[in-house]
Amino acid sequence: MSETEAKTKREKFLAEMQKVAAEASKKTPEELVLNYKGVLYPNTICSIETFQALESLEAREDDLIIVTYPKCGTNWVIQIFHEILFSMQNKEVTINQAMIEFGKPEKVEYLKGQPSPRVFSTHMFYDHLPKSFFEKKVKILLMLRNPKDTAASYYHFFNTNPVLPSFETWELFFKAYMEGKVCFGSYFDYTLDWNKHVDEENIMVATFEGLKEDFKSELQKISDFFGLSLTDEQISLVESKTNFKTMKENSSNTHGKLGNVFFRKGEIGDWKNHFNEEQSKELDAKFEEKLAGTKLGEKINYNKYCKF
Ligand code: A3P
Repeated sequence: MSETEAKTKREKFLAEMQKVAAEASKKTPEELVLNYKGVLYPNTICSIETFQALESLEAREDDLIIVTYPKCGTNWVIQIFHEILFSMQNKEVTINQAMIEFGKPEKVEYLKGQPSPRVFSTHMFYDHLPKSFFEKKVKILLMLRNPKDTAASYYHFFNTNPVLPSFETWELFFKAYMEGKVCFGSYFDYTLDWNKHVDEENIMVATFEGLKEDFKSELQKISDFFGLSLTDEQISLVESKTNFKTMKENSSNTHGKLGNVFFRKGEIGDWKNHFNEEQSKELDAKFEEKLAGTKLGEKINYNKYCKF
């Protein structure tokens, strides 16, 4: 894809986002969500028909998929792959900015026709993804973020993104988050679901905090896993193009009016400005019950990032 084609594709994506936001503004909070296999999804961008159509999407061995629970750094990683594959190596590569589950069912036919290699991203549970991704052993990057910062980020996202219903208070959001009554389901169930598959050779786990604190070594690991062999110089270049400040400054080009919605603070520890002592303890107990001692639970480094 040439730079001009990429620009046209981006502009189309932005126009589509505008349209969806306008449609969403006319709906009630109840009308903004749908339930698919027990998980809530935003109704204006997801549909049962699209989920069904996705089942026929044949994966290819050279596809690549970025898997995240919302607000764990999806757009950051998409941009990192964009820089690595498209800008730097000048590879013919199709990077889909929207999640695989977003859009109309016809989009699946369009995805089928895209040239290889294709880069997808998704917030779906393992079992809800098209089976052929696993049969073909497509390489998967699972990006995690600690559950408290994810909650704080998600709260603001619900209240600033028109396709999602708003929560009047942090308390109301916190309750829904703990009960998994938010779009894309429970953080805890989602992470547990992926945890069952973490030993599969095609899955690599990275963390938001790891990228924030030691971008170079984390990116080196990602690049090795995907067989990209980046030099130190290239890694520094990717860092300069994908750091928070640069991405936020460029966000009106990449995300239009939703630029400031997707690029808010980009920090570790903002949860401390939202949680009270009781809420913090409640989440600690939930983490202990569900994720402590699991492989993904360990990767989250809970005690380092989630204690006052
Ligand atoms: P905050 O709301 O805490 O700022 P997603 O892309 O999955 O929706 O995740 C959004 C979160 O990632 C937001 O967190 C956003 O600011 C943060 N983010 C996006 N790009 C980033 C970057 N380059 N560096 C650090 N954080 C980034």
